[in-house]
Amino acid sequence: MEKSRKKFTDVIDKAMVAANTMDRDELLFSYNGILYPVTLCSPEEFRAMESLEARSDDIILAGYPKSGTNWVGQILSDLVAIFEKKRQNKESSMNDEELEEFPYLEIGDTGKYERMNKLPSRRVIFTHLLPENLPRSIFKNKSKILLLIRNPKDVATSFYHFSNAVSFLPSYETWDDFFIAFMTKKMAWGCYFEYLSKWNKYADENVMTITYEELKENPLLGVKNIAAFFGISLTEEELQSVVERSSFQSMKKNSMKTHGAFGNTLFRKGGVRDWKNLFREDQNEKMDKAFEEHLGGTKLGTKLKYEVYCKA
Ligand code: A3P
Repeated sequence: MEKSRKKFTDVIDKAMVAANTMDRDELLFSYNGILYPVTLCSPEEFRAMESLEARSDDIILAGYPKSGTNWVGQILSDLVAIFEKKRQNKESSMNDEELEEFPYLEIGDTGKYERMNKLPSRRVIFTHLLPENLPRSIFKNKSKILLLIRNPKDVATSFYHFSNAVSFLPSYETWDDFFIAFMTKKMAWGCYFEYLSKWNKYADENVMTITYEELKENPLLGVKNIAAFFGISLTEEELQSVVERSSFQSMKKNSMKTHGAFGNTLFRKGGVRDWKNLFREDQNEKMDKAFEEHLGGTKLGTKLKYEVYCKA
C-alpha cells in the first residue's frame, strides 16, 4: 500500500476495531442536534475545527454520506495533483496518492486543524457536514465548494448496505427498519432531506452543484466542468486520464491499495436506480412526498428532479 494512503486505512481500521466492542446504542453521539459515529468524530474535535483557516483556493467537496464522495474526491485530488505538478514544472506522476490527513474534515483528532493550517495549497477537503456546521472561515474567505448530490432513494439504498457492513454505524435487521430510521432523522450526519434543503440556501456562485447521475452519464463533461469551476486547466488527454482513473471499475480494482479492506464495502455497485431492488411502492410514495415537502420548487430540488426523477 502507498505510504501516504496508510493514514486512511489506519483511521478506518481503528474505528472498526473500537466499534466492535460497543453496543449498538452507543455507536452514535449527538452534537448540535446531529448524530455522528463515536469512533470517528468527537465534540472536542468539532470545537477544534473552528481553528481551521480556510483559503480562497481550497477545494471543498460537500456531500452527504453515500452520495459518491470517494469517487468525486478521487477526481478532485487527481485534478489538483496533475495541475500543481505541471505548474511547478515537475514531471506529472499519475501514481502519486498524496494524503497528509484523513480527507474528511470532521474525521480525525483535535490537532488535525492546526496541522492542516500548515499544509501547502491547494488543499482538497471533503465533508459530510451541514453548511452551518462548517468552520466560518470557509464562507468568509470564499473557498469554492463542489456540492455533490444524489437521488435520495439510491443514497438510502447505499446507506442501508453500508450500515450493515461497517461496525462503526448501527446495523439494521431489515430494510423496513432502516427506511423508518432514514425517514425519521436517525441517520449519522443527519437527515438527507434537511441536508439538501439547508445546502440549497448556500447555492451561490461559490458553490457548484453536480449530481451523481449526471457525472455517471457523462463523466468527461462532468470532470471538465469541475476543473473549469476550480480554475484548473488541463489538456484533453489529461482530463480523459482523470476520467479513466476514477471509473468505478478502476477505483474498485485499485481499492485495496487506496482504501484497504474497507474498499470492498465502499465500492459496492456504483450505479443508478439500485433502489428499485429494495423500495416497496408505499415507501416510494413516502419518499416522493418527503422530497416534495422539503425540496419542491427549490434550486437543488429542481436539479435533482430533472436529473433523477424525470429519467427514472
Ligand atoms: P453504491 O452503494 O450505490 O454502490 P461515498 O463515497 O460517498 O460513501 O458513496 C459511496 C457510493 O458511491 C457507493 O454507491 C459506491 O459504489 C459509489 N461509488 C464509489 N466510487 C464510484 C465510482 N468511481 N463511480 C461511481 N460510483 C462510485
